[in-house]
Amino acid sequence: MAKYGKSLNLPHFTFRLDTFRALQLSGESRELVAVSQIQSTYGKEDMSNQRFTKRLVRTVGFLGLLLLMVAPIVGDKPQPEIAVPFEPTPPQVVDEMLKLGNVTADDVVYDLGCGDGRIVIAAAQKLKARGFGVDLDPQRIDECKENAESAGVADRLQFKVGDIMQTDLAPATVVTLYLLDEVNLMLRPKLFHELKPGTRIVSHAFHMADWRADKTEHPPKARNEVIYLWILPASVGGVWQWTGKNPQGATQYRLDLEQEFQVVRGELTSGEGKKAPISNVSLNGRELLLSAQVADGQRQVRVNFRGTVDGDTIKGTQQWRGGSRAGTYEWIAQRTPVDLSGSWRIKVQASEEPLDGVLRVERKNGDLKATYVGDKDKKDIALTGFIAWGTSVYFNIPAEDKSPIFTGSLSGNTGNGKVTREGTSATLVWTGQREK
Ligand SMILES: C[S@@+](CC[C@H](N)C(=O)[O-])C[C@H]1O[C@@H](n2cnc3c(N)ncnc32)[C@H](O)[C@@H]1O
Repeated sequence: MAKYGKSLNLPHFTFRLDTFRALQLSGESRELVAVSQIQSTYGKEDMSNQRFTKRLVRTVGFLGLLLLMVAPIVGDKPQPEIAVPFEPTPPQVVDEMLKLGNVTADDVVYDLGCGDGRIVIAAAQKLKARGFGVDLDPQRIDECKENAESAGVADRLQFKVGDIMQTDLAPATVVTLYLLDEVNLMLRPKLFHELKPGTRIVSHAFHMADWRADKTEHPPKARNEVIYLWILPASVGGVWQWTGKNPQGATQYRLDLEQEFQVVRGELTSGEGKKAPISNVSLNGRELLLSAQVADGQRQVRVNFRGTVDGDTIKGTQQWRGGSRAGTYEWIAQRTPVDLSGSWRIKVQASEEPLDGVLRVERKNGDLKATYVGDKDKKDIALTGFIAWGTSVYFNIPAEDKSPIFTGSLSGNTGNGKVTREGTSATLVWTGQREK
C-alpha cells in the first residue's frame, strides 16, 4: 500500500513531481506543475487524437515559458490550475457532440475552454440553444464574439474571459469539453457539486477514468475521433422507506442503496425483515429503475419500480407482476436525512502501510468539503476529489505513488467500503467511525 498523505498542496499532480523536477522549474507553482502534467499525459496516453496531442507537445514547452514569464506579473491574483492549449474541434465532430448530448432549443450549453466559440455557436445556429463559453485567453473570447455576430446568434450566447475552475456551472443543462483526461478529472468533483442531475456532459477525445461514460461514439465522418457522454446522476445513496397497502393491511418497505457515479446497488427489505437483492437497476439522471422479488403472502412477486428522484423524495410507480396486488400503483419513497458533516476515524487494516487517520467533512456554501489528517504526519490535506451521493462516498487520499481510491458509505455513526488503486487488482477494506 502506498504511503498516504505525503504530498504537495496539489494532490492530483504529486506523482508528476519527477517530470516537474526534470524541467528544472523551482517552487510549487500550480500552473507549472500542471504544465509538466500535460507533457506526461502526452507522453503516455490517448493517441485517439494525435493531431491535438502532437500540437500539445509543441505548445507545452512554449506554455511553460509563458507561464514562467506571466507568474511574477500577475502577483497575488489566483492563478489557473489548468492551462490546455487551443486546438479547435473539427466541425463534423462538433455536430456529433451536439447530437450525442441531445441538444435542443431548451438547452443552455456551456463550453469550458471554448476556444473560438464554435461549439456553442453551432448549438445556437443549428439547434436554437442558448450558450456560454469561457476561455482563459482574451484573444479567443474576442474571436468568439466576432464569430457569434457573423453567425447571427450573438443574442443567444455569452462569452467570458475566465478560468473554468472559477466558473459557476449551475445554469448549464449541457457541458462540452475538449481538455485533457487529467483536467477532466480535476473538473469532475465540480461537475458533481454544481450541475443539476440529468445534465449531459460531452467530451471530445478525453475521458473521466473510473466514471464510465454512458455512451461512447466514433463520429461516422471522423472515425478516428472519440466522443463521450455522461448524464449526471442524481444522488440516491442512503435508506429509502415507504408504506405499501395490501389486503392484509400495511407493509413497511426499506430500500438500502449504495452508489458510485451512476452505478447503484442495494437491497429491499419488506415487512418483518425479508431481504431481497435488487436487479435491473439503472440511474439515468434523475430517473431510477429497479426490480425486486417481493413477498406477497407465500408467493414471491416481481415488482418493477420506476421513479424520479427529487432530493430526498422519489415519486413514480410500482408495477406488481402478479399475486394479490397485481397492477400498477403510485410509489413515493422518502430518504432518511443524511448528514455526513463531522469527523470520521478511517482505518485500513493492511500488513504494509496500514492507514489510520481522520476524515473531516464540512458543509461550506452548501457543498461538502473534506480534509484528511493522517495520524503519523498530522498534516491537513484537502481532498479535492471528494464526492458524496447521500451516504455513498468517493475520495482519494494523495499518496507518493498512485493515490488509493476509497468508495463505500458513511451512515449513522459507522462506515465501510473498498480501497482500490489504479493499475492493481488488489482490494482492501476500510472502516469508518464517527468521532464524538
Ligand atoms: C483544446 S481547446 C478546445 C476549444 C473548444 N472547446 C473546441 O472544442 O473547439 C482548449 C481551450 O481551453 C482553453 N483553456 C485552457 N485552460 C483553461 C482554463 N483553465 N480556463 C479556461 N479556459 C482554458 C484554452 O485557451 C483553449 O482555447
